[in-house]
Amino acid sequence: MSIYKEAYGQNPELTSSAPGRVEVIGNHVDYNGGLVIGAAIDRRVRLELGTNNAGLLRLVSGQDTKPVELPLGEGALVPLQGPDRWANYLLGVIKKLSEYGLPLDTGINLAVSSELPSGAGLSSSAALEMATAVAFNEWAHLGMDTKALVKAARWAENEFVGVPCGILDQGVVGFGRADSLVAIDCRKEEFQSVPLPADTCLWIFNSEKKHSLIDSFYADRHAECQKALSLLQRSLPEVSHLALVTAAQLEDLKESLPEPLARRARHVVEEQGRVQRFMEDLENGEGWETTGSLLTASHASSRDLFENSIDELDYLVEALAACPGVFGARLTGGGFGGAVLAVTSPSFAEPEGRAIAHSYQRRFGHSPQVIRLTPDQGARIDSI
Ligand code: GLA
Repeated sequence: MSIYKEAYGQNPELTSSAPGRVEVIGNHVDYNGGLVIGAAIDRRVRLELGTNNAGLLRLVSGQDTKPVELPLGEGALVPLQGPDRWANYLLGVIKKLSEYGLPLDTGINLAVSSELPSGAGLSSSAALEMATAVAFNEWAHLGMDTKALVKAARWAENEFVGVPCGILDQGVVGFGRADSLVAIDCRKEEFQSVPLPADTCLWIFNSEKKHSLIDSFYADRHAECQKALSLLQRSLPEVSHLALVTAAQLEDLKESLPEPLARRARHVVEEQGRVQRFMEDLENGEGWETTGSLLTASHASSRDLFENSIDELDYLVEALAACPGVFGARLTGGGFGGAVLAVTSPSFAEPEGRAIAHSYQRRFGHSPQVIRLTPDQGARIDSI
């Protein structure tokens, strides 16, 4: 029985779903205004939506969370604290969509279920936000396009949940296509599908480690990038975003940045160069032998310059990079825990994945979660 039917004793009026995402390349480049590339994946968050006559907003989830029940209406939508905080991803989107005409005078029942491992850096939060956005857009006939829904979902994460993320997660989750990557120009907020070359396999090795200070580390890196930009703007007033600074400009101005800001800026600027080369390689049909090494170079930069890796991820990247059939590997997402993405040929299969998992287990005492992924469609309505 569906979670909705079990909780509310009837069928939902509509169901939506949204995928998780992997960041393929472009680490911490999105909120710095650069180009980033990701893929929506074939693990989804599902949302069931219906109404109630009690004028309440009710939420249940298949995870181990308490049901949440709130009065609806303008003033009632404020961020929750404590164990109910998971509901903020949905509440933030509902609040934003109310500005686009979503009525708040009908009681709403919602049920959430997820195939995404949480804490793996696969953006279960953006999936939840986008599943909510497409569902209410359809239900209330708001007529918002995908870009407007992506921006509403990012608003929820930035302003309601309070994480200063860029547009990568919601953008990839919104614009994902089967067998394709999503390239995002984060400054212009332009989204483009890029076919994934045939015979390319994507794997996730989830360390299942998550730093307890993950959100504050992310916010610290965000603030360091802002600070580096404002120092560079004293000499480059025309440059609006850190990712738009060229390598030559940064070299000329390196004395103007104290550490660790100089390392952070170098990571962002060089990572942007790698993303551009990656994109050109894909467009020119360059083989993965060359292109894949950009991923491993990206990881080294995150580890040494941006300092958002952990031993477990470094170990996985090193073991994977030495394995035949692996074109490249890197941490994916915010860092400070989470998962490594490996891009491989079909010759890398279950036995090879298991061998890496065993060597990891011998070193760290627990097994990583190993998942083979396929790029999948973005957020969508599944049934009405
Ligand atoms: C997290 C954020 C994204 C992006 C990545 C790092 O996934 O949500 O906006 O900044 O980290 O590239």
